[in-house]
Amino acid sequence: MDAALEGASGGSAAAAEEAGGRKRRGSMYLEEETSKKSEVISCIFSLKEEVGALAKALRLFEDKGINLTHIESRPSRTNPDQYEFFIDVDPSCSQALDDVFDSLRKDISGHVHELSRNKEKDTVPWFPNDIQDLDRFANQILSYGSELDADHPGFTDPVYRLRRKEFADIAYNYRHGQPIPQVQYTEDEKATWGKVFRELKTLYPTHACREHNRVFPLLEKYCGYKEDNIPQLEDVSRFLQSCTGFRLRPVAGLLSSRDFLAGLAFRVFHSTQYIRHGSRPTYTPEPDICHELLGHVPLFADSSFAQFSQEIGLASLGAPDEYIEKLATVYWFTVEFGLCKQGSEIRAFGAGLLSSFGELQQYCLTDKPQILPFDPDKTCLQKYPITEYQPVYFVADSFENAKEKVRRFAATIPKPFSVRYNPYTQSVEVLDNTKQLTNLADCISSEMAKLCEALRKLQ
Ligand SMILES: [Fe+2]
Repeated sequence: MDAALEGASGGSAAAAEEAGGRKRRGSMYLEEETSKKSEVISCIFSLKEEVGALAKALRLFEDKGINLTHIESRPSRTNPDQYEFFIDVDPSCSQALDDVFDSLRKDISGHVHELSRNKEKDTVPWFPNDIQDLDRFANQILSYGSELDADHPGFTDPVYRLRRKEFADIAYNYRHGQPIPQVQYTEDEKATWGKVFRELKTLYPTHACREHNRVFPLLEKYCGYKEDNIPQLEDVSRFLQSCTGFRLRPVAGLLSSRDFLAGLAFRVFHSTQYIRHGSRPTYTPEPDICHELLGHVPLFADSSFAQFSQEIGLASLGAPDEYIEKLATVYWFTVEFGLCKQGSEIRAFGAGLLSSFGELQQYCLTDKPQILPFDPDKTCLQKYPITEYQPVYFVADSFENAKEKVRRFAATIPKPFSVRYNPYTQSVEVLDNTKQLTNLADCISSEMAKLCEALRKLQ
């Protein structure tokens, strides 16, 4: 199970930063007030800074009889030689607008980003542009981490509940770039960790995938993984960053699937920091630090798995709600409950399995469950229980193979643009204009030159 996968509905939006419900965030304008959904069509386009450029663009609207109800401008933050224009248009002109956008893109080399039109079917949901935007999720949790259900083992324990609130407060106040606060775990908490750690560790050599087994000793060596010590998230996050660029971020409660998956696009994993209740060390109704550190973390240190996970995250950005649900299901059957082929054997790589002694030892690798080949088109439709062992598992040939399949699946998601993660700026680039594509071509060309040079030297 995981911190996030609780339906696709977004949390409450943060307070509007600008009047009229329109928000400015990074390089994008956002329109989030649902009451205004069908009143205007909004778009943003950029033009080279030169005499007459705006007049030329406005003439396109005039020629089609389109009435602009609002316009504002600013220098472009991404292209210093360009200006960006935000416009609102009368919605009765929707048809003619397509022709204008075509002309803007083709004839004036304008970068056009449509923000709202016919919202019921066409609008692209908001997604974070850069890694700092993930701070917004801290205020969009679906439930606070200290709110426990009546059947939770810690429900009637006031000390445990207070402790959970401490952890939730740490995460709620955390912002990107800060070190994750160190936690002084109590002797009881360490004892709970110790029991889980000891039991699971005996199973890994025979049940976990080779990538997990390769990384685990490194975590023992560098991150304080041992029976009598609960590792600190900050230490683990630093280790992951040095391996694959993945990092941990504390989360105060349940995130929507959309928000949780978006984190993966930036190689950010939202992690709990509290531990399960000590009365039942082998059971937890929700993710806890045992699940994150023993199940998830070792795999995020593997480059192929990291790429695979990021691929799911990138596919989720701007995807329609029904596809978020499908991607969350793909995530469930891979990152959480995935099996993979390794030589003639099948091993576990899903964190839900690697952190569950019972399901790992007595069930998932036996002939009791149904085992199917991983195929995102089919996997994404599979129903699953969240409180009992899985009746069906999917087996990947390899992380590389699974990544390619997810990439092909992602290409079927109806989105008017492609995205690419830029690790230098830690931001997502929307590839919907010639400037971005030229930049990408330059990067590929430069990398290809290095590859050719290295090959020549090897020969
Ligand atoms: Fe998880």
